[in-house]
Formats: sequence, C-alpha cells, structure tokens
Amino acid sequence: MTTTLSPKAALTAIEVVRQHFAARLAAAQESPAIAAELENILALLAGVDFTRPDEKHLKASGHPVITQLRQVGAQSSASSATQAIFDAFLPHLDALPWRYSYEPRPDAPDIGQRMAWAELVGPIAPFHSHQVCLGLTAIGSGLLYPLHYHPAVETYLVVSGTAAWTADGLTRQHPPGTLILHPSNIIHAMKAGDEPLLAVYAWTGDVETLSAYVDDIGP
Ligand SMILES: [Fe+2]
Repeated sequence: MTTTLSPKAALTAIEVVRQHFAARLAAAQESPAIAAELENILALLAGVDFTRPDEKHLKASGHPVITQLRQVGAQSSASSATQAIFDAFLPHLDALPWRYSYEPRPDAPDIGQRMAWAELVGPIAPFHSHQVCLGLTAIGSGLLYPLHYHPAVETYLVVSGTAAWTADGLTRQHPPGTLILHPSNIIHAMKAGDEPLLAVYAWTGDVETLSAYVDDIGP
C-alpha cells in the first residue's frame, strides 16, 4: 500500500476509467441519455491538462472508510467489467484524497466517518478542471447516503457492492457494472448493502456548486 499517490498511478487509474467509458459507448447498449453524457465526459476529459498535477491533492487522507474498502479487497463483488477499475485503485486506496464536506447532521452523526469521496479531476483535485469532475465515492456497508441534490449532471459507474439507489422517489438495486445518470438537481440517495459501495462518479455542467442535503434523510 502506498501513502502518497504518484501522478503516474493516478493517471493510470483515470485511463482505466476512460477506457471503460469508451468501451461502454462503443458497445452502444446504454440509453441515449447515458451515451450522450459519456460522450460529453470523454470530450471534457480530453481537454484536461494531465501534465501538471497539483500534488497537494495527492496526499493520503487517512479516512476511516478506507479500512472497510481494503477488507473488501480480495473478495470484492466487482463485475468482470469493473474488476480492472477496482484493481487500478485498490493499491492506492490509502493515498487517495478522500474527503467529506457536508455540514454535520444530527440524524446521522457518524456519516462523515463512514462515507467519503476522492476526486481526481475537478476544481479541488490533483488534475484541475472547472468543467468536469471524476472521482470515487465510497459508502460503508449498510450506510444510507441521505437524499441530496446538486446542479451538476452526475454519472455513476458501480465498481463494487450492490446498493439501493433512489432517484426521483424510485428505488432500485444496482449491481457492479451499472451506469446511473442523475440529471441536474434530481433528488437522489444511496444505501449500501452488506458490502461497501465503491463507485466512480463524473460531474459535468455546474461542477462548482456543492451538493446539498434535503431535510428528509431519505428512503
Ligand atoms: Fe449526486
């Protein structure tokens, strides 16, 4: 396990995700909305300057969610489609810039210790962009990520762990390999199952405005 993420390792992991998105697009089995957004994400990533990483965002965070993800490691439920992504990130879990930046909420006092995200591309990330974000979201087993919304268009790729995903009042179980599109400002939530959820996310559109919780905790 590494404690600092080298720019090369970060780039390798990003490239694995890019290749996965490109392959999904080429396979032409996604909905038109998801295909259009994958195309948008890939075009925006192609415009990111990957030659000048901001290394202050490549330091280990020591977030407790890492311990859970590492325990999952060997017996991960990553699908064959997402195993390459899981494998690309697994050796670097300690070194990713995990953070949790919502205000505390009294109905979920320990949530900031049990979920986090690590952004690799974005406004506050090793590779700067004000047009696209790319990172990982990790949610500890059994934890509800309460109902929230944001103006950015969000695409998730489930890497490992089947969770209950709610959007616009509808809840579905999504296994590894699923692509999920959250249109701008849709209210959504996720509840991890027995295994922690690890998912890649991408944001486009207004990537500067932070996500906000709604008052209800969720489904
Ligand atoms: Fe979201």
